[in-house]
Amino acid sequence: MITLSPLADAAPDDVERLLDSAFGTDRHSRTAYRIRAGMAPIADLSLAAWEADRLIGTLQSWPVALHGLEGETPLVLVGPVAVDPDRQQRGIGRLMMDAMLSRAASHPPLVLIGDPEYYGRHFDFTADATAGWKAPGPFEHRRLLARTGGRALPLDGMLGPRRETKTSDLR
Ligand SMILES: CC(C)(COP(=O)(O)OP(=O)(O)OC[C@H]1O[C@@H](n2cnc3c(N)ncnc32)[C@H](O)[C@@H]1OP(=O)(O)O)[C@@H](O)C(=O)NCCC(=O)NCCS
Repeated sequence: MITLSPLADAAPDDVERLLDSAFGTDRHSRTAYRIRAGMAPIADLSLAAWEADRLIGTLQSWPVALHGLEGETPLVLVGPVAVDPDRQQRGIGRLMMDAMLSRAASHPPLVLIGDPEYYGRHFDFTADATAGWKAPGPFEHRRLLARTGGRALPLDGMLGPRRETKTSDLR
């Protein structure tokens, strides 16, 4: 049986091991890591998946923002989403995403860098709003996805850590 808990229940070393096995040890240079540099995960939107006491999945979400002429527009950067390679394709990624999305309504719009084939088809993320956005590193525009929940977002700006983080955003 698979259960979910707050990510804080998992030992940090176990989380790092799982991320290495899903993404490789060179993952720290990825652009998504630069977008949220220095931020702590949003506790309410960061989850661990367990099979008994074995950690088999993690989902982290971070306070970030689009910085532009209109100032700072708060966003939530979702990811990495990782499932133990031995347990992929069994619905665990979807279970974590659905649990995160069920809590996301009270948070700013969501953004991620990931496969549109997965995040579009299953979770309503699209690249429609992000065409004019920039990031502090290389990325493919088709993989920069947002889930706005109908909210209007600036057409351009640079993604980066959120500067005006409010305690209520980090529940
Ligand atoms: C991507 C990942 C999180 C998905 O979790 P999962 O538990 O394996 O996937 P689920 O069982 O929830 O979903 C499976 C479905 O997603 C599809 N899918 C999974 N990964 C996909 C991908 N990268 N692109 C397109 N479709 C994908 C499967 O075809 C399947 O579709 P179906 O239900 O219509 O048959 C997981 O495979 C993983 O950790 N991969 C390596 C790390 C990674 O690439 N993470 C995503 C970037 S942040």
